[in-house]
Formats: sequence, structure tokens, C-alpha cells
Amino acid sequence: MKNTVATIMKQKLSNDRIAMLTAYDYSTAKIMDEIGINIILVGDSLGNVILGYENTVSVTMDDMIRHSAAVSRGVKNALVLTDMPFMSYQASVYDAVINAGKLLKEGHANAVKLEGGIEFVPHIKAITAASIPVVAHIGMTPQSVNVFGGFKLQGSDKESAAKIIEDAKAVQEAGAFAVVLECVPGDLAAHITKMLDIPTIGIGAGNGCDGQVLVYQDMLGMYSDFTPKFVKKYADMGNIMKEAFSNYIKDVKSGSFPMEQHTFSSKAQIDYNQETEN
Ligand code: KIV
Repeated sequence: MKNTVATIMKQKLSNDRIAMLTAYDYSTAKIMDEIGINIILVGDSLGNVILGYENTVSVTMDDMIRHSAAVSRGVKNALVLTDMPFMSYQASVYDAVINAGKLLKEGHANAVKLEGGIEFVPHIKAITAASIPVVAHIGMTPQSVNVFGGFKLQGSDKESAAKIIEDAKAVQEAGAFAVVLECVPGDLAAHITKMLDIPTIGIGAGNGCDGQVLVYQDMLGMYSDFTPKFVKKYADMGNIMKEAFSNYIKDVKSGSFPMEQHTFSSKAQIDYNQETEN
């Protein structure tokens, strides 16, 4: 079944939790789609896990369009949600609408996600008015790393919790169809989830959200630079890959790869010494 904005919103009402993972390429997206993931997020976390930047600030519209288009080619049923990168929407409502449109027209996304709460209400309203579904992202918003001074828990005191609650209400009111809550206390996320009509999707926000999202390299043990507390490792792919690559190197060095079954043969018997002499 195709996941749409309507089916995702219905999942909240029927207590059917929303499973979302990031993907950045055709092959991975195809695997996730085949096993029935609800939403594939083409996250600007690609800046970290694909491009090797320290944070997401350097990610461009071209990066997001290229990876979003690759993911969408691998997907039949998942909803493809693509991040608006830093400075593609912050400077003006006009930028926000034009760039959100590009992510749909050229990146073939079904919806876009942007970081921010009450300050971005005009942007969310204008993008949704252009018939582009929006997911808001509040709490710890990685594009604001230079303001936060690092990737830190948000909303753990009364004042900052009140701001996150206000942000959640504002983005729903502005027309967002879902909201990502990143790195906030579990009780705050559960409170927001009960308060809102739209689904909440948590990352580092406990078990009281309507859905969960993880970066796939984190949950597969493929990204070793930094593993946040909220990540559960479902596989040790980093070590599995290291073992496979080492075995390949050994086989190449010893001459045991390629074998006959990996080798093409000529149709006719050709004497290559004679052919090169003529
Ligand atoms: O870019 C990303 O992967 C994200 C998730 C962490 C929610 O925004």
C-alpha cells in the first residue's frame, strides 16, 4: 500500500506506529521499501554519514536533489520525505517555497521537512499553500548547531520545555502534517504527542511518540564518528564490511579471486600470439 500524507496521519488515530528511516541512495531505499517502511527520510544527515562533514550546515540544495531523486527511483510504497538544507528556507518565505518546489519537481520527494518552530510559521503556511506537504522538526535542530554549541538535549528545563510546546502547537496550526521531535525528554515528547492532532516522530525522544526515526548508518553500526545515546544498533555492519573487505584483499593477493566461475571465455580458440604478430 502506498504511504501518503493521509495514511500517515491516519496511523496516529489507529495507534499504528510510524516507522521512518533515513536513506540516501537507490539500493538502500529499495531494500527499505520492499520490507514496508512507512517513510524514507532523505535527511541532510547525509552531510555527516555520506559526505563526511562535521555537521549539516554545508549541505546544499544540489546534494539534496541528487540524493532525493536516487531514493525516489528505488521506492514504490514509502513516502519520500526530503530535508530542506541550511539556508534554503531561512532567509525568506519566497526561498522556502521555491526550494521546497525544487525538492518535489527535481528530487521527486512527496513532502519536505524543515527545522524550526514558531519562527517558521509563515514559511510552513506558504509551502503548504503551494500544495507541498511539510513536516516540521523541533527540539534539537542540527542546522542550529552553532547556536546550541553542540548536539545537546533540549527542553529539559521549564522555560525551554514551554518553548518546544509552543513550537509544536504553532507548526500544527501552520499546516505541518507531522512533527519530528529530536533529543527532548521522553515525558515532554509524550505530552506533546497527546496534545497534538498530527503525528509526532521521535529521535531521542522516548517511546511516547507516534513514530520513530533513526539514521540507518547509526542503527546498522556503520558510522563510528559518534553514536548518540538514543541509537539502538540492530546490526554490526561496520565489522561485517571490514571482514568482507579483508577477505577480498586476501583473495586478490593470494590469486584465489577471480576463479573460473567469475571468468568469461572466448567463443573460438584464438592464438593470441599469432594475432598480435599479424
Ligand atoms: O537529517 C536527518 O537525518 C534528520 C533526522 C535526524 C531526523 O533530520
